[in-house]
Amino acid sequence: MTSNNRKILVTSALPYANGPIHLGHLLEYIQTDIWVRFQKMRGHEAYYVCADDAHGTPIMLKAQQLGITPEEMINQVREEHMADFADFNIEFDNYHSTHSDENRAFAEQIYTRLDENGHIKRRTISQLFDPEKAMFLPDRFVKGTCPKCGSEDQNGDNCDSCGATYSPTDLVNPVSVVSGATPVLKDSEHFFFDLPAFGDMLQDWTRSGALQEEMANKLNEWFESGLQQWDISRDAPYFGFEIPNAPGKFFYVWLDAPIGYMGSFKNLCDKKGINFDEFWKEDSQAELYHFIGKDIIYFHSLFWPAMLKGANYRQPTNVFAHGFVTVNGTKMSKSKGTFIKGRTYLDHLNPEFLRYYFAAKLTSRIDDLDLNLEDFAQRVNSDLVGKVVNIASRCASFISKKFDGMLSTNIDDQALADEVMNAGDSIAAHYENREFGRAMREIMALADKVNEYIAVKEPWQLIKDADKQQEVQDICSLGINLFRILMIYLKPVLPELSAKTAGFLNDELNWEGHKALLTNHKINKFKALLQRVDMDKVNAMVDDSKDNLVAAQAPAAEPVSPHLADDPISPEISFDDFAKVDLRVAKIIKAEHVEKANKLLQIQVDLGGEQRQIFAGIKSAYQPEDLVGKLTVVVANLAPRKMRFGMSEGMIIAAGPGGKDIFILSPDNGAEPGMRVM
Ligand code: MSP
Ligand code: ZN
Repeated sequence: MTSNNRKILVTSALPYANGPIHLGHLLEYIQTDIWVRFQKMRGHEAYYVCADDAHGTPIMLKAQQLGITPEEMINQVREEHMADFADFNIEFDNYHSTHSDENRAFAEQIYTRLDENGHIKRRTISQLFDPEKAMFLPDRFVKGTCPKCGSEDQNGDNCDSCGATYSPTDLVNPVSVVSGATPVLKDSEHFFFDLPAFGDMLQDWTRSGALQEEMANKLNEWFESGLQQWDISRDAPYFGFEIPNAPGKFFYVWLDAPIGYMGSFKNLCDKKGINFDEFWKEDSQAELYHFIGKDIIYFHSLFWPAMLKGANYRQPTNVFAHGFVTVNGTKMSKSKGTFIKGRTYLDHLNPEFLRYYFAAKLTSRIDDLDLNLEDFAQRVNSDLVGKVVNIASRCASFISKKFDGMLSTNIDDQALADEVMNAGDSIAAHYENREFGRAMREIMALADKVNEYIAVKEPWQLIKDADKQQEVQDICSLGINLFRILMIYLKPVLPELSAKTAGFLNDELNWEGHKALLTNHKINKFKALLQRVDMDKVNAMVDDSKDNLVAAQAPAAEPVSPHLADDPISPEISFDDFAKVDLRVAKIIKAEHVEKANKLLQIQVDLGGEQRQIFAGIKSAYQPEDLVGKLTVVVANLAPRKMRFGMSEGMIIAAGPGGKDIFILSPDNGAEPGMRVM
């Protein structure tokens, strides 16, 4: 293996530091992690780096809204992201932040080189400005009436109602989403990266044949419609890096975000003594791959290679895009409980189940991937528990109980052994080509053959016959050996199960090990390796994801932009609409924990004669016993909603960022249950 030792640097896109990791993100990190683990297992020098993407207007405003500094917020979020990734067994060699010294240094250097090479243009443009907040407004922070069809409350750049696209300055009655003020037009000098100058180089890259077919097609469409200069500066106030020799001007977040790949790798090099230049200099022989989602292809396959070229660095060897995760056939949705955070998943289910399911469905293409929750449970149970682990559980107890844990010296069925051992090259090729689904199918087909072999041989019958003891040891030894090889093949996908298996088999499960069988080898006592997926737990996870909505629906203290809250702000309503909401004082007469629910309390309230049962997602902030006897405010005319635990007949109004900081309203003691709240 060392003869063709490759140097490989791999990245996943840097998640924004203003929100939690969800199952959509995880597709990417799991895909990348599997690929890198595979490369490392094969003996290559591979590094996997990532970071939080910490800059930009949404992050600045969200920190303001939380009343903390952006630095505090991005540090907190980075800790959470790192914990989520670690618990999904995603093994970065380094996880940094774009708000780092290394990244600042590279951003300044690359910008300066681009400028010196004549690739930065300066131009004054006129943009909407919020006079109250004294800031320029990105498109999505402006709303107004569509200039085409007259629909109210449309986005700054496109109309949901008639589909028109336009510039925010075209909106009739524009409003700043940040302050509610009417924006004014204001001039400012902006800096542009001269992307069109790199058209030829980018077209050559597109034609090289290395790119995914769908990506090459996309790029060709973009070439046809013409490349544009790219605005890379933003005016203060902005959370980011100030541009050298341009006070009050900052790099746009997408300028320093991909440079964050270099920043994170440099940070690793400094810690580990790796030669940075070997990976990034213009004529580098190392391989560089970026795994990304389909929404950010433009940045990675046009801007980024051009920036690198213009600053005398190497270009990526390839950019691998994947599609989007849908759940049960549709876009992840909070109201359906299918917008599932990584942490919520981990509260209920084994991370390796998701790793396996995604692997089983991943291809090298950009198609979307559906996580169908029934199929998920069924697939994991049938493949991992029913096929793979089943081999070990059928064979192990005989070996430990009857043969003192020793595997036989005989090979009972050499042809079957050869078939499983010889599959290694083909499975490796599937991993290399990111055809993980094919790899999984090939492994499961082998598992079927091994199970068939055991079923035909029936060691549980033979064991009753004193003359057949050796045969039983031979059969079960082969079963264990083939299970071992399958686990070698699955190791990039299932690191935790592999580690347990390695302990049980006294073997490291190295890739090269697939070419040999363990004979006359002692194994340890078998312990259950994997529990089945319980559909109850899947349902509980979905319910818990719905619970998030209860807190998220609470009114925010300040108007927030669509990208600040997890859910877009709803369209404005008239006073008459508001008056339809029947808010009543309620007295809490009973409050209890709900078994298997992480966020919910079951609450009985008195509305002045009428009692209601309400499920409220406030468990993280309130002890049930402290609630009893309190007055609060509920929406009394909300349509009842069936939850897994029972009907919820109203809603308790609460506000706050979440966790311990959720606050229910507590009217003064003069209030009486049933009183209408105006
Ligand atoms: N910060 C930018 C990336 C900068 S890279 C220099 C960003 N962040 S993100 O948090 O929005 O997304 C991170 C990655 O997750 C992206 O590759 C994105 O495509 C991917 N996904 C986010 N939601 C997804 C799904 N629902 N499904 C699959 N991937 C998704 O973009
Ligand atoms: Zn319209």
